[in-house]
Amino acid sequence: DFHAIIPAGGAGRRLWPWSTPSHPKFLLPLGSEKSLLQTTATRLAPLAQSLTFVTGSSHAEAVRRQIGSLNLDTPSLFVAEPAARDSMAAIGLGAALIERDYGPSLAGSFAADHHIGGVEAFHNAVAVARAGAEAGKLVTIGITPSGPETGYGYIEVGEPIPEIPGLHLVNMFKEKPDAKTASAYLESGGYLWNAGMFVFRTDVLLGALEQEAPESASALRKLAANWESLGEPAKLAWWEKVVRAPIDTVLAEPMSERGEVVMVPAAAAIDWSDVGDWEAIYQLRHQTGEKLANLSPQTPVFQSDSPDSLVYAPGLQGVAVIGIPHAVVVESGGKLLVTTRENAQKVKAAGLAADEW
Ligand code: GDD
Ligand code: MG
Repeated sequence: DFHAIIPAGGAGRRLWPWSTPSHPKFLLPLGSEKSLLQTTATRLAPLAQSLTFVTGSSHAEAVRRQIGSLNLDTPSLFVAEPAARDSMAAIGLGAALIERDYGPSLAGSFAADHHIGGVEAFHNAVAVARAGAEAGKLVTIGITPSGPETGYGYIEVGEPIPEIPGLHLVNMFKEKPDAKTASAYLESGGYLWNAGMFVFRTDVLLGALEQEAPESASALRKLAANWESLGEPAKLAWWEKVVRAPIDTVLAEPMSERGEVVMVPAAAAIDWSDVGDWEAIYQLRHQTGEKLANLSPQTPVFQSDSPDSLVYAPGLQGVAVIGIPHAVVVESGGKLLVTTRENAQKVKAAGLAADEW
């Protein structure tokens, strides 16, 4: 048995104006007719006995509709959280609900908004991860870093686990290091990125949470046991007892200190991207060999002296980019972003400012 938890939260503001709090990136298609959420569910359905989607109440309907339209054979549970409370709460609630419905089980949490080009490599990595989870470990999937990114968790790769081929001990787990540390990690060659996927036994995860944050664990069990009958105010009251922090710092860091975290290095063929900003989207598109990545091909684009640029402007009748190498021009819902790929990380500030518009 294997159950998938798909936490779908966050606004993806670095992809403004395409991604916004009301239309976050997991609900949006990325150069295909399916959204990232839909491709995530499609890739997990063949592996899983059930899919549990945990999302904000304002997106619960859209998530249900998008998943419903896929007509998957795998049963789905849709969980609308009372308020955003970061990934530990979302994943913990998913695990507690799975345990309530199926007993202690093997489960994994998989971000709703990532791109994975190599589905077979992904399935292979999950198969290895399951073996580690069965042995009582928290298992992560490691990605070979391509730069000193500070937006990821880093995994220091330890000894191989002899009993389970393909798995390595995680010596240390460091969530979002500063730039200097990230550069040192990259130089040493002994670190991988955490892909933000965790595979575990629900009883192991909730047991570790019991140890790290006992009040959170009991609140989650209480919530799961009474999820359908609790009124919204009571749900919120229990929910607010759950730690508001990412699973990475609540569990992965302390468990790695106890040797309880192991890792599967993903094959390069997994072609993973967290699609975090416009540079990441350019990189995904660039692989197709286009000089100018036009994500809205129905809009004609004239470009001169603006190599390796990205345009997405489905609402416009034409775009010209002149003399701006690496330009990023994005139009969505009457809002316009003009920047360069080098500034992609800074778009978050614009996205936050735009909340007021
Ligand atoms: N339902 C729900 N509610 N989901 C949430 C919430 C929330 O309040 N907050 C975060 N999530 C979900 C996100 O949608 C995503 O699927 C997952 O939890 C991870 O949260 P992010 O906020 O996207 O984390 P991150 O990108 O900063 O970092 C994580 O992912 C990186 C890879 O993309 C970490 O796991 C890093 O270690 C990792 O490298
Ligand atoms: Mg993310």
